[in-house]
Amino acid sequence: MKNRLYWLNSVDSTNEELKRRLKSGSQVYDLDAVFAKYQTNGKGQRGNSWESEHASNLTFSMYLQPNNLSTSKAFSLNKVVSVLIVDYLKSLGLKKLSIKWPNDILVGEKKICGILIENSIAQSFVLESIIGIGLNVNQQLFATAAYATSIYNELKEEMTVELVGEDLLVFLNSIHHFLYRPELLNERYHELLFGLHQERSFVKNGCIEKGIIQRVNQNGELMVEFDGELLSFQQKELGFMLD
Ligand code: BTN
Repeated sequence: MKNRLYWLNSVDSTNEELKRRLKSGSQVYDLDAVFAKYQTNGKGQRGNSWESEHASNLTFSMYLQPNNLSTSKAFSLNKVVSVLIVDYLKSLGLKKLSIKWPNDILVGEKKICGILIENSIAQSFVLESIIGIGLNVNQQLFATAAYATSIYNELKEEMTVELVGEDLLVFLNSIHHFLYRPELLNERYHELLFGLHQERSFVKNGCIEKGIIQRVNQNGELMVEFDGELLSFQQKELGFMLD
């Protein structure tokens, strides 16, 4: 089925807008998406805000009804969305793409895209998922310039934000296809995982320590070897040190 796309000029957060539409009983179908030119209260991971220049970038949320996805496998959603976004960016000619656990998309060591997935759960299954995506398209200057980039900054080519949105959705329409092929999905996610098998510095319990990422387990925890000991970390428990 074809996605229904809604373009708004301004909204607090497209994730919140989708939630309101669902709550009010509006008809929202699998793979529908709400886009905003500007968010007044864009949300990032870990309670951070998501800042995005007016009409320069893609900020949208897609609605998904997973089929029989148990909560223990909910992290597959993060994996599949990250992999498909990388596939799309590769198709534009971007290079040095990777996924920084859990699901930031990087070009080199600069972030180009952030993802915020919010699930509603009943009886150990993910019933509905709101997949919020912020992709930097035409923005050239960033407050944290050393850590952020955009399609424009990489390709020196201005893009029509609406077309980027429509094209990216074509890739995201394969979510269901990949979600139920865990081996393939795991292989693709790990191929793209930033820092895999490399010695890197992390912030662990407030101290900087060197460790080697071994994999991401089914629960979405990062498995890192520190001094020969394999430890698993949830999202708030470990910080990356970028160069
Ligand atoms: C992050 O990297 O911290 C996640 C950023 C997610 C931002 C997107 S923009 C569209 C959607 N609406 C929001 O309020 N947040 C997500």
